[in-house]
Amino acid sequence: METEVVKPGTLEELIRILHDIFSSDKVNVEEVQAIMESYESNPQDWMQYATFDPYRYTRHLVDEGNGKFNLMILCWGEGHGSSIHDHADSHCFMKMLQGNLKETLFDWPDKKTKGEMSKKSERILKDNQCAYISDSIGLHRVENSSHTESAVSLHLYSPPFDSCQTFDQRTGHKSKVKMTFWSAYGKRTPFASEVATRENN
Ligand SMILES: [Fe+2]
Repeated sequence: METEVVKPGTLEELIRILHDIFSSDKVNVEEVQAIMESYESNPQDWMQYATFDPYRYTRHLVDEGNGKFNLMILCWGEGHGSSIHDHADSHCFMKMLQGNLKETLFDWPDKKTKGEMSKKSERILKDNQCAYISDSIGLHRVENSSHTESAVSLHLYSPPFDSCQTFDQRTGHKSKVKMTFWSAYGKRTPFASEVATRENN
């Protein structure tokens, strides 16, 4: 297959390339992962989105990908983490822009044998690395386990979704949660929607 290898010089250029890739109906996971990885994070490109909260990580919508994907920046303060969650049958790409994140993979809980969810693996994502997950791979938890450094990551979800399921590690019990943005296109989203924010992807 003819895959054009273009290294995006800026976040803006990366977004342009992503629009191109997603204009076709089929998503080539490796291609998206490679292009996201090849963008060398430059804080100048994304500083405008990087607002932190002292208590939990924040989500900032960057681009709506012509309805094909949502691209967002997540800001993780020291010790901030997500719950264990699924990805609503979408593709999920997660690229490091700054710092490191720990990703722990879990199997879907077994409906019959309730109890502690089994950990499949864990890894540290760093330096422009781009991870991929989907519901067929499993569930994950993402954490900034550093006590001294914050982390910033760039996430692409296709198709876009605004709710997912979170899981209790000890029981496997799941709940549906709606996700909201702290900001969209660099502007603070209305407080009312922020109140509803729960842990998510
Ligand atoms: Fe996730």
